[in-house]
Amino acid sequence: MQVREVGRLPNQLPADDDHPYRTGAWRPQFVEYDADELDVVEGAIPPALDGVYLRNTENPVMPAIGRYHPFDGDGMIHSIRFANGRASYRNRFVRTTGLAAELAAGAPLWAGIIESPEKSLRPDGWGARTRMKDASSTDVVVHAGRALTTFYQCGDAYEMDPTTLAQHGAAPWVPAGGISAHPKVDPATGELLFFNYTTTAPFMSYGVLDRDRQLTTWQPIPLPGPRLPHDMAFTPRFTILNDFPLFWAPEQLAKGIYRPRWRPDLPSRFAIVPRHGGDVRWFEAEPTYVLHWINAFEDGNTVVLDGYFQEQPVSPPDPADGPYGGLRKMTDLHAMRTKPHRWRFDLTTGKTTEERLDDAVTEFPSIHHARGGQRHRYVWSMAASVGWFLFDGLVRYDLETGQQQRYKFPDGVYASESPMAPRPNGTAEDDGWIVTFTTDVRNDRSECVIFDAAHVDAGPIARVALPARISSGTHACWAPAGTLP
Ligand SMILES: [Fe+2]
Repeated sequence: MQVREVGRLPNQLPADDDHPYRTGAWRPQFVEYDADELDVVEGAIPPALDGVYLRNTENPVMPAIGRYHPFDGDGMIHSIRFANGRASYRNRFVRTTGLAAELAAGAPLWAGIIESPEKSLRPDGWGARTRMKDASSTDVVVHAGRALTTFYQCGDAYEMDPTTLAQHGAAPWVPAGGISAHPKVDPATGELLFFNYTTTAPFMSYGVLDRDRQLTTWQPIPLPGPRLPHDMAFTPRFTILNDFPLFWAPEQLAKGIYRPRWRPDLPSRFAIVPRHGGDVRWFEAEPTYVLHWINAFEDGNTVVLDGYFQEQPVSPPDPADGPYGGLRKMTDLHAMRTKPHRWRFDLTTGKTTEERLDDAVTEFPSIHHARGGQRHRYVWSMAASVGWFLFDGLVRYDLETGQQQRYKFPDGVYASESPMAPRPNGTAEDDGWIVTFTTDVRNDRSECVIFDAAHVDAGPIARVALPARISSGTHACWAPAGTLP
C-alpha cells in the first residue's frame, strides 16, 4: 500500500475521554490520507467491481459544549475507488463553514442536539433545532457526478468529487431552511429529490433538482406544527413524505426546550406528493416513527412503501447504563425495535393497509440502486449490537420467498452501512456485491470488506486493508463507475 498523509486536524478532546461515542469503535480520526494499491489481505477484489464506496463518519474535533451526541461529530468522508481488481482510498474532513469557524476560534462554538441552543456561543447557526453546527456528518449520495454530504437537522449540501474528495463547498442551489439528510437520486431520471423541515410554518418543504443541478420544483408541505422527519421515498409519479407522532412538545418548545415526545394517541401521517408538485394526498396509519425507508413503488393505483416500523420509538433511560443511559437508549435500535414493515396507500379508496415483513430488528437498508422507485425483491440490512449504535451483522431478505441469509461479523468488528454494488451489465437483482468498511476495535484497524450479494451468509470474498482505523458513523453509498465524473 502506498500511503501519504495529506492533512491533520488537532485533537482537542479530553485525554481521559470516557464518552461511549468518542471511544471504542467511535474513536474519532484526525488524519487525512491518500492511499493507493491497497493491500488485499483475504480473497481477491472482483475485477468487475467498478465504482466508489463512500462512507460518512463522525469525528468531533472540539470538546462538546455540555453533553455530546454522536450525531454532533464533524463529518469525515472516506472514499474507496475500485477498478480492475485494485483499490485506492482517500479520506477528508468535510470542510464545513461551522468547522472552519471553530478551528479559527480554537474552541467549540455550537452546542449539540441534546443541549439547549442557549448554550451555543454564536447566535446564528444551522439546523431545525436552531443554533447548531451543520456538521454534514449524516448522509452522502452522488448526484450529477458530485458527492453531496448532508446533515439530519437540515443545513447545507457540501459538494465534492466522489473519488478524489476535492471539495467544492456548499451547494448554491440549497433553498433557505436548508436540506435534510436523505435526499434521493432517481436513477431513471437523474433527478435529486429532497426536503427540509423547520420550526416555522409551513414546517416542511419539498424540492426537485434536475440532472443538471437546476431547481425545478419547490413546494411547501404544510404540517400542523414542527415535526422531525428523517427520510423520504419515491416512485416514478410520487414522492412520499411523513408526519410521525414523535415531535418536540409544543408547550416545551414555547420555552425553548427541544425534547421529542412520543404521542401514540396520534396517527402516523404520510404525504403522497406528485413528483413535480401539486395537490398532496394524506394517508393515516398506525402510530410509529421511521428512521429509514427501504424503497417505494407503484402497484396499479396503490403506492407501496417499505421501511422500519419502530415498536417503541422512545424508551426510558436504564439507570444501570450510568451517566450515558439516556443517550444509549436514544441510539439503540433494539430499544426502538425497528422491524421491516410494508405500508400500502390505495389512491382509489384513500385507505392504508400495513403489515410486518419480519420480526427481527434490522435497519439501514440497501437495494439494487436501479430498483429505486421500482418493485424490489431483495433487501440487504444491518443488524445492530444490543445497547449500541453499532452494526455487527448483515441480513439479506428475499421478499419473494421469505428466505433470509445472515452474517455476523467477528467479535469487536463493526461494519458500516453496506450498500449493494451491482455487477456492470448484470441482469439479476442480486448479481453484485455488498461493500462495507469495518472498524476492528481489538486489532485497532479498519478494512474494506466485500461480500457476494447473493451469498452474504458465506462471509467475505475479499478484505482490503485501510491505512488507519476509521470511526463509526451513520450513512454510506455506492456510486457505480458510470455515475462518476
Ligand atoms: Fe439516516
